[in-house]
Amino acid sequence: MENFTFYAPTYFAFGKDTENETGKYVSRFGGSKVLIHYGGGSVVRSGLLERVKDSLKNEGIDFVELGGVRPNPRSGLVYEGIELCRKEQVDFIVAVGGGSVIDSSKAIAAGVLYDGDFWDYYEGGIVEKALPIGTVVTISAAGSEGSADSVITKEEGMFKRATTGEALRPKFTIMNPALTQTLPAYQTACGITDILAHLYERYLTNTSEVEVTDRMIEALMMTMIHEGPRVIEDPNNYQARANIMWAGMMAHNNSCGVGRTQDWTSHDIEHELSALYDCAHGAGLAVVMPAVFTYNLQHDVNRFAQVATRVWGCQMDFSNPERTALEGIEALRRFLTSLGMPCNFAELGANPEDIEKLAHTACYGDVNDGSLGGFVKLNQKDVENIYRLMV
Ligand code: NZQ
Ligand code: ZN
Repeated sequence: MENFTFYAPTYFAFGKDTENETGKYVSRFGGSKVLIHYGGGSVVRSGLLERVKDSLKNEGIDFVELGGVRPNPRSGLVYEGIELCRKEQVDFIVAVGGGSVIDSSKAIAAGVLYDGDFWDYYEGGIVEKALPIGTVVTISAAGSEGSADSVITKEEGMFKRATTGEALRPKFTIMNPALTQTLPAYQTACGITDILAHLYERYLTNTSEVEVTDRMIEALMMTMIHEGPRVIEDPNNYQARANIMWAGMMAHNNSCGVGRTQDWTSHDIEHELSALYDCAHGAGLAVVMPAVFTYNLQHDVNRFAQVATRVWGCQMDFSNPERTALEGIEALRRFLTSLGMPCNFAELGANPEDIEKLAHTACYGDVNDGSLGGFVKLNQKDVENIYRLMV
């Protein structure tokens, strides 16, 4: 295990009706004028937005609203939010929605306290100062409710970039699993896929002797495999929703990622798909992950065989561990398909003619030497080959 620091001071309120406490938590964390940020309308239709507003009113907290965050949130609305917060002297942001709303809130929170263009942070900066934010989560997926990250799509060029910074971790997060019961099955499945991806990105490591985090990741993966089909079968299964919701947070607040190198190849490759084709991030990952894992298999056959046996219940073939490793990837693919996820470019609505462009944009990303990947270092040609495996 490598040296690490870990500080994740988000206050979590979990369970039924907890959204009615939003005002109380805003007061507790020092907010007096709030921006309520939300998406395309699900929280209006479900009545959640009204309940959140009522709880702020009950605490005597003044607020303004900005809805309209789209999945794969755009830079344009962030600029609007920054302006609104400055004009209204907002000192606290409450995100009511999923990862897109939370990420847009984080971008606004950082931008309000920054003199330059907020996008600078998404070109490689670390956010050190931001307005405090709280979240009321409506989908188990991105894990942004416990993470220090934010992902925004730049409208000029339609590409996605991420930033990070401890200042972006929510001060509080309200998690009522019942709020996720209104999700369409497809979005629920996208969320489960994203959670599994966050676990794989950490599992695929070059650090040895990380038994504790390996085992934590395996437990969370097995929870998703158990609970995923149960919520697709019965969307009102509160207990299954609850397990998925907490697993989704733990999968990405980095408690499972400390002390080990991480990969993030699948995310870097997927982000270009959801930016260009506006598909759901989880759906993109369902197509990307099996291709990336197959391409990277030879780098560490034993690690892929380990997840195959410990998580997917494959029998270890000691004379041919590669076969076991491939069985594990196949089991993942079958699981995702059974949830209703796409498995290739066509099902995702992606165009093979864009592959060179996709690979180019993906490689310009997090690592500026034109390569990506923490598990296996991949250049643009490798990334193109991986996209081709998805066609
Ligand atoms: O906009 P509304 O009307 O609210 O509808 C949303 C949206 O259409 C709907 N939805 C959410 N909760 C609902 C609901 N519909 C009915 N009932 C509910 N309870 O679901 C759709 C998807 O919402 P979105 O917020 O986009 O989903 P998700 O949480 O998957 O977020 C995806 C974004 O997060 C980024 C992704 O790249 C993507 O842009 N990520 C952020 C990360 C982070 N900040 O740490 C890490 C992730 O890896 C990921 O990259
Ligand atoms: Zn993700």
